[in-house]
Amino acid sequence: MIFWRVKPLDAILATAEKKGLHRSLGALQLTLLGVGAIIGTGIFVLTAEAAQKAGPGMMFSFIIASFVCMVAALCYSELSSMVPVSGSAYTYSYAVLGELVAWMVGWALILEYSVAASAVAVGWSGYFVGLLDNSLGIKIPIALANGPFAGGIINLPAVFVCILVVGLLVIGTRESASFNAVLVTIKIAALTLFIALTLPVTELENFHPFLPLGETGVVAAASSIFFAYVGFDAVSTAAEETENPQRNVPIGLISSLVICTIFYILVSAGAVGSIGAQPILDETGKGLMPGSIALAEQCQTLAAVGQHPLVCSREALALVLREIGWERFGNLLGLTAFLALPSVVLMMLFGQTRIFFVMARDGLLPEVLSRVHSRFKTPHIVTYVTGIGVTVAAAFFPVGKLADISNSGTLFAFMVVALSVMILRTKDKHRVRPFRAPVIWLVGPLAVIGCITLFWFLPNDAKLVFPIWSGIGLIFYFLYGYRKSHLALGIDSSSGGEDIIKPIRSLTDRSQDSIASKSKSKD
Ligand code: ALA
Repeated sequence: MIFWRVKPLDAILATAEKKGLHRSLGALQLTLLGVGAIIGTGIFVLTAEAAQKAGPGMMFSFIIASFVCMVAALCYSELSSMVPVSGSAYTYSYAVLGELVAWMVGWALILEYSVAASAVAVGWSGYFVGLLDNSLGIKIPIALANGPFAGGIINLPAVFVCILVVGLLVIGTRESASFNAVLVTIKIAALTLFIALTLPVTELENFHPFLPLGETGVVAAASSIFFAYVGFDAVSTAAEETENPQRNVPIGLISSLVICTIFYILVSAGAVGSIGAQPILDETGKGLMPGSIALAEQCQTLAAVGQHPLVCSREALALVLREIGWERFGNLLGLTAFLALPSVVLMMLFGQTRIFFVMARDGLLPEVLSRVHSRFKTPHIVTYVTGIGVTVAAAFFPVGKLADISNSGTLFAFMVVALSVMILRTKDKHRVRPFRAPVIWLVGPLAVIGCITLFWFLPNDAKLVFPIWSGIGLIFYFLYGYRKSHLALGIDSSSGGEDIIKPIRSLTDRSQDSIASKSKSKD
């Protein structure tokens, strides 16, 4: 029986009550939080990879990925309105499917958050290198700005941004809601500018052939571009700090997704319509794999003769604007990505440390990981451990591969959330559901089927990483968590660490927390 050790929902809710975090976020702030976590490397960089897989039909890929996220978001909304606590999918599955499944979800979320942080760092590196070259004429050698798969040795800019973010997290920097709002405004302004400049110069011939690699290419691109939507679940992790979470969390989740979907579809239409998005094929007519050495070589050959197709770009949106004659706006968009993407790395890494923290608090991971720095009051050990993994991955792997691996973990977590909603609907019919996912017997199965389909269309290496990663997780669970689980040992996990799991406080808030905790220890 794998569904053992179910943590009663009421116990989880009682834990949240005990912690009594200050509830200060409203629907608008939550929506901005979602948009802040969603818009990043996916749209700014992976648009090129989507084009390589699907050609102009990538517009449909954006729609398919959005649809899967939308049905998953409805399921997230129902659970987060019922269980407005930290830990997101991990906590929900602990309450519905028991400890083993919860462990596997938590373990998969490591892939989601950590590997996503690496992917966004590599995406940032592309814009950084492009910006230096195009605005200051400084060229960073290919060997030092790319990992081995993209024809280089090490991606030093990506390493730099990872180290910077780890340092910020260790000293306790968290993005405040107002700083996030500023970054969201900048990103939205940049995408609006992109749409306004590209749509008017759309030429119909750029849409032909529309599906050069067939429908399969469109779904494969959807599996990768799914990454562009990842992050909306950050809204549900802020549930404990939200006023009236029953109403505001579903609004935040769904509206942030809707806003991003509209922008993404218009941006992809603008990119395709203005400069075209045909993939580079091998001699047999198959599309070359994004992130492969073969594609990198072809792109270098084309660049040598002055051709810069969308599919080769590491700063896709900036390239489009430069190609249609808006050099300065291209650089401005590059500057936006340069400024805004590190905050997405920060959000992902922060999400990761929070999940680790909740798992360690439940006794499933070693206590040492939840140890808090005496001065900064941050979980520095878990941040360093995660930071090392994230930095190494960013140094050597291409953005697309990292995004695909991250997607594999996320799709698993989303699927379990959808299953949990359906199981709870039958197991615990009478529990109050402040938000009910509409037509759950359609929405739930669609979410499950959607996640499985997108997983299936991921490249083989990403599909392989997931079972290997899960296998390692299972070994770890049976060697450690199974015996040390606080639920099994009857230990109350509800005390301690409140200041660590607050998701979106600013540096100044942190000082107040420290003062508060110091005075508590004096008492
Ligand atoms: N959705 C986020 C991004 O695209 C992770 O960067």
